[in-house]
Amino acid sequence: MSTPHQQMFFQHLFGIGQLSKEQIEHLVSMGESFIELSRRPIKKAPTLRGKTVINLFFENSTRTRTSFEIAGKRLSADVINISASTSATSKGETLLDTAETLAAMQPHVLVIRHSIAGTCEFLADFLPHTSIVNAGDGAHEHPTQILTDLLTLKTQASGYEGITMTIVGDIAHSRVARSHLLAAQKLGYKVRVVAPKTLLPSQVEQYGCEVFHNFDEAIPGSDVLYMLRVQTERLTDNCSFPSIREYHEAYGLNRKRLALAGDNCVVMHPGPMNRGVEISSDVADSARSRILDQVEHGVAVRMAVLTALCGTAPEPEKRTPRREKAEAAMQAQGKLL
Ligand code: NCD
Repeated sequence: MSTPHQQMFFQHLFGIGQLSKEQIEHLVSMGESFIELSRRPIKKAPTLRGKTVINLFFENSTRTRTSFEIAGKRLSADVINISASTSATSKGETLLDTAETLAAMQPHVLVIRHSIAGTCEFLADFLPHTSIVNAGDGAHEHPTQILTDLLTLKTQASGYEGITMTIVGDIAHSRVARSHLLAAQKLGYKVRVVAPKTLLPSQVEQYGCEVFHNFDEAIPGSDVLYMLRVQTERLTDNCSFPSIREYHEAYGLNRKRLALAGDNCVVMHPGPMNRGVEISSDVADSARSRILDQVEHGVAVRMAVLTALCGTAPEPEKRTPRREKAEAAMQAQGKLL
């Protein structure tokens, strides 16, 4: 029988949906073992020496990009950052050409964030010799954020099994909420979603969660209040979102609301926070807040993911999948390329 570590040898991390319970738990445990490295005076281990990681970010990001960068560097990988404004796509190159160009430089891992769901899977078909990590694709998935949150919960007395996580806010556009809904089904924690009807995906109950429109009703019995930012960049109409004041009144977490929760209930947020919108400053900075723990654990979990994936892609060949397809097409027409 293969060990959990052997079962870990998958080439890409596209989403929580692809992982088994054992694989999720293995990555979280690996992350836990990396926490200590970041607390040492000299934060360096040789694990990924000689490996190259490229961060290719087409959406704004501070914590996720920095977190992957620090994770790679602490494990001695060479890490290169490319953002949308500095990538050749801003000069008209297609995303596929940019990705193929970078892959031709033989990195071990490409960490990709893009506003279009499914970007990583699409590119993976053309980059057989690189591992791809999804750092957030549209409203689809954000696997490393969920692994981060699970590690934060694992370090708490409650753990994550059997707990009730209440996710509040823009569920419809949140890749974080979607990935948690998938993880909860595999790991046995309960999810309540709280949002106005306009910010809930249709048939969200399919994920086995409880649905609330009234935040106050969802608070008692919650172990985690998980607050989301309203994804204004993904709201395509003007009528889904009330005014900021109305939103804060109905769905913002403030001290008064937090008092409805049990003594051990903690507050989480994937960041970036909008203080005064989904969360008030007194709650964000309170002893109940685990928001900065999440940030710390994000680095540890990304060390685990990079370690698990580096070196899983097969060795490169000269011919790319696109070239093979083009040659086959030309041969079929009796022409030489
Ligand atoms: C989240 C994201 O990008 O999906 N943030 C993050 O990765 N730290 C949530 C958000 O943008 O609101």
